[in-house]
This record gives sequence, C-alpha cells and structure tokens, in this order.
Amino acid sequence: MPLRAAALSVLFMLASACGPSSTVDEGLGVVQELDTSEAGITAFVREGRYKQWLAEPSIHETRAPHGSKVRVFFNDTVTGSLRAGNATHPMGSILVKELYENDGKTLRGHALDVKISEGAGKDTWIFYEGFGPDYSNNYYGRGHGTCHGCHDSGRDYVTSPLP
Ligand code: HEC
Repeated sequence: MPLRAAALSVLFMLASACGPSSTVDEGLGVVQELDTSEAGITAFVREGRYKQWLAEPSIHETRAPHGSKVRVFFNDTVTGSLRAGNATHPMGSILVKELYENDGKTLRGHALDVKISEGAGKDTWIFYEGFGPDYSNNYYGRGHGTCHGCHDSGRDYVTSPLP
C-alpha cells in the first residue's frame, strides 16, 4: 500500500504541475531587475517596463508563418552585444516582442526572451509568450520546446536585427 500511495501522489503532483492556470518559476531569480518567474514576467510586460528600450521604428508584419503584426524592443545589454557581433549574448540580455491584432493598433500580448546564463544553447534562455487581458495560459520555460526551433536560425536565438 505505501508504494501505491507514493505512486498516486506522484501522479497528483504531475497533474497539478500541468494545470493551465498554474504559474511556474524556473527559480532563476532576478536578472536585470526582471523577476524571471512567470508571474514576474507577466507583471513586467503588463506594466510596459521595456517601453524606454531601443525599439523597431514601427509595428510591422511578422516574418513568422502565423500572421499578425509585431514590434521588437532590445535592452541595453543585448543592444551592445548585437552591435559587437557577439556569437553569444551576455546574461541579462532581454528582448520583448509586442504582438498586435491585424489592425496594427490593438496590443494582444507579448513574447520575451531572457538570457539567464552565459554560453551557448537553448537552456541559456527563458522563453515567454502570453496574451491579454489575463495572461493566464502562457508559454514559459527555460529552453521552451515551442520556441527554440525557429530561433535556432538566429544568432544565439536572436532573429531580429537591430533597428
Ligand atoms: C514559427 C517560427 C517561430 C516560433 C515557433 C517562435 N518564434 Fe519568436 N520569432 C520568429 C520570427 C520570424 C521573429 C522575428 C520577428 C518577426 O518577424 O515576428 C521572432 C521574434 C521573436 C522575438 C524578438 C527577438 C528575436 O529573436 O527576434 C521574441 C522575444 C520571440 N520571437 C519569442 C518567442 C517565443 C517566446 C516563442 C515560443 C512561445 C517563439 N518566439 C516562437 C519566429 C518564431
């Protein structure tokens, strides 16, 4: 019986970890004043704390296969690194992509990459994507399986050139 109880509790833990409204935390703390938990990133984008960063001059069509319009913002760390042409970007590099409706005016949500350790590989990044108004069913995770594939083609997973 104890074994069966242990197995059941493992199943329960797995099931609750995958719940759609759970908020997850990779446990990587604060990077460049950004709390890198899922809840921390949601608060960051909702408050528009990236709005002063270097930005693409206008909202434009995405190059990704699923339509909609976008605008990318670069923090100082990644801006310096892209200017220097580095093969990998330093810890603390952050990029935010605003996601708009087809009207090019209504902000729907945000995608975000945060470099959380030095070196190469998908696991040096946290990937996040969420949609308003609730940001309740987000993509979030280190080396997230939905995100890194397309971004492989970029330089250290960054695909947008500096504006
Ligand atoms: C189908 C391919 C594809 C997938 C999957 C994808 N992206 Fe992207 N992403 C792009 C392209 C292309 C761009 C360049 C900007 C544009 O044209 O939209 C981009 C740009 C970005 C940017 C701006 C910085 C940069 O690298 O250019 C962020 C942040 C971003 N994506 C996050 C994510 C996250 C988070 C996920 C997973 C939830 C994801 N992406 C999945 C294709 C993809």
